[in-house]
Amino acid sequence: MIDKINKYLNDIDNFQSNDPEEIEAFRIKYLGKKGLLNDILREFKNVPNEEKPQIGKKINELKTKAQEKVNALKSSVKSSAGKKIQDVTRPSYPLEHGSLHPITLARKDIIEIFTRLGFTISEGPEIEDDWHNFSALNFPDEHPARDMQDTFFIQRDPDVLLRTHTSSAQVRVMEKTEPPIRTISPGRVFRNEAISARAHCIFHQVEGLYIDENVSFADLKQTLLYFAKEMFGKKTEIRFRPSFFPFTEPSAEMDVSCTLCGGEGCKICKYTGFLEILGCGMVDPNVLESSGIDSTKYTGFAFGMGIERIAQLKFNVNDLRLYFENDMRFLEQFKSKL
Ligand code: DAH
Repeated sequence: MIDKINKYLNDIDNFQSNDPEEIEAFRIKYLGKKGLLNDILREFKNVPNEEKPQIGKKINELKTKAQEKVNALKSSVKSSAGKKIQDVTRPSYPLEHGSLHPITLARKDIIEIFTRLGFTISEGPEIEDDWHNFSALNFPDEHPARDMQDTFFIQRDPDVLLRTHTSSAQVRVMEKTEPPIRTISPGRVFRNEAISARAHCIFHQVEGLYIDENVSFADLKQTLLYFAKEMFGKKTEIRFRPSFFPFTEPSAEMDVSCTLCGGEGCKICKYTGFLEILGCGMVDPNVLESSGIDSTKYTGFAFGMGIERIAQLKFNVNDLRLYFENDMRFLEQFKSKL
C-alpha cells in the first residue's frame, strides 16, 4: 500500500497543466467522492493496527499534496489569463520625439524679441478684400505696383483674394485702435509664383507697426538694430538702402551683416558682406488717413519680413522647398532647438 501511495505522490509531482478542464479532472481523480484518496481510505480500514500510524501519515501527505497542487495550478491559470506571452529579451521600440518646424522656431524667436520691446501680437484673415490688401495701403487702382504681387483672386468685383502680404493686418489694427500702437502681425501669405529653391506660392511674414506722436526714422533704425542683434548675434551690423513701397515714405530695405562670414564677403552674401532681410519705412500719411488716424498728430514706422528668410539665415537652409516637403531627414535636424 505504501508503494501505491508513493506512486500517487510521484504522479502528483509530475502533473502539469494550464487547462482548467484538465485541472478539474485531476482534482476529481484524486480528491473526488469516487477518487483515489477515498479508495485508499477505504483500504486503510483493513490495515493492521501497528502499521496505521505510518500509513495514516502517508495518506495525509497525499491529501495535502493533491489539494496544494490543485490550488497552485488553478491560481497560475487565473494570473496568466488574458496575458500574451511576452519576449522579455526583445529590445524596446526606440521612442522618437518630434521637433518644432524651423518656421515655427524662427517665428517664436521674432515674437519673443518684439514682445520684449512692448509690441503686441495681432492677426488678420488670410482671405482678404482689396481694401485691406491694396487700396488702404495706398496702392492706386490699376497701379502697376499691384502687379508686383502676383495675387490669387478668389472672386472679382468686389475683389476677394488671398492676402499677398501681412501689411493688410496693419490696416485692420489701425482701423480699430487709437494710437499709440505697437504691434506685430505674423501670418501666412500667398503669391502666384512658380515654386523653386528661392520662391514659393505660400510663405510667412511678420509685419511690424509703431504709431505714436513724434515717431521718427531714428526709432525705426534703433528698433530694427536691436532686433538684428538679438536674432543673429551681438556683432551683427545693419544697413539701409533706399527703396519703394506704396505704403511707406521714405521706404528702405534693411540688410544685416552676413551671418556666415560676418561681413568679410563669401558665397552666401555674394561677396557683399550683407544679406537683405526686410522692407520698412515711415508710414505714408495717406495710409494713416485711410484708416482714420490723424496724420497731422501721429507718425509711425512699419516693417515687414519673411520668416522663411530669417529661418534660412539662422539655420543655413538653402532651398525654400524643404520647409514644405515634410522630409523627416530635414525636420529631424531641429530636435535640439526645442
Ligand atoms: N509688404 C511688403 C512685402 O510684402 C513688406 C513691407 C515693406 C512691409 C515695407 C512694410 C514696409 O510694413 O514698411 O514685400
